[in-house]
Amino acid sequence: MYTMDLTGKVAIVTGGANGIGKAIVDAFLDCGAKVAVADMSVMEKASSDHLYYVKTNVSKSDQVEDMIKQVTTHFGRLDILVNNAGISTMDYMVDIKEQDWDRTMDVNAKGVYLCTKAAAKILKAQGEGGKIINISSQAGKNGYRLMGSYVASKHAVLGMTKVAAIELARDQINVNAVCPGIVETDMKRTERVIGGELRGLDEELIRLEDNSQVPLGRTALPEDIANVVVFLASKYSDYMTGQGINVTGGMTMN
Ligand SMILES: NC(=O)c1ccc[n+]([C@@H]2O[C@H](COP(=O)([O-])OP(=O)(O)OC[C@H]3O[C@@H](n4cnc5c(N)ncnc54)[C@H](O)[C@@H]3O)[C@@H](O)[C@H]2O)c1
Repeated sequence: MYTMDLTGKVAIVTGGANGIGKAIVDAFLDCGAKVAVADMSVMEKASSDHLYYVKTNVSKSDQVEDMIKQVTTHFGRLDILVNNAGISTMDYMVDIKEQDWDRTMDVNAKGVYLCTKAAAKILKAQGEGGKIINISSQAGKNGYRLMGSYVASKHAVLGMTKVAAIELARDQINVNAVCPGIVETDMKRTERVIGGELRGLDEELIRLEDNSQVPLGRTALPEDIANVVVFLASKYSDYMTGQGINVTGGMTMN
């Protein structure tokens, strides 16, 4: 029987306190996994036998190493890492502030590198394979106005996905990325406000513009992304690695 059963698996979801990450956490729990949330923000959901929270800034190597240690001590093993934590900063390329560029690359690109490195060591030592799932974006494949630093960071995530996939393949560790389109989260709502200010447009107009660009006729809910992440965490994706899967309602097809 086909079931997305993750019973006995231990997963880490970075940025799991809100938005897409939170939907991934809920989906993993529904599938029977034990889940650790590594986020800078406090998690509203109460801890339980299956849910563990570690306050973590993914761009700091000491915090990442400590988080991996805490999770493996708490749950006894590790099977799945979802590199979801991310931020977006917006401005025209010629106006991007150096500190915004650094901050975006630190969280979105360096954070993926640090967490992958620390988690892969554990997965390799266990010798039972594993799944690493990176949340890139359609901005990892195409350019979008006002998103220079973000686009660069998400292209970097797809690059790391491909290299890690090749290097970890012999250990049966699958490394894939999901490339969401427009997802209704706090990040997207903030982007509409800032983008609206920079373009002199009303935020509501941008929301309508967003919806009109999606062939399937609506922007995504966090659950739309979580559904594909669950597949990539399951045995049904065992023969896939190094891929960047678009979940965009048809907006991106490359
Ligand atoms: N919302 C979209 O339209 C969209 C589209 C494509 C890709 N994405 C990507 O999906 C991921 C999740 O985005 P979201 O829309 O849910 O955003 P969100 O802002 O709603 O949630 C992001 C979470 O990451 C956490 N976070 C931020 N910086 C962190 C750090 N340094 N260390 C640990 N945690 C940190 C935040 O506290 C928050 O809980 C991001 O990587 C984002 O780039 C989002």
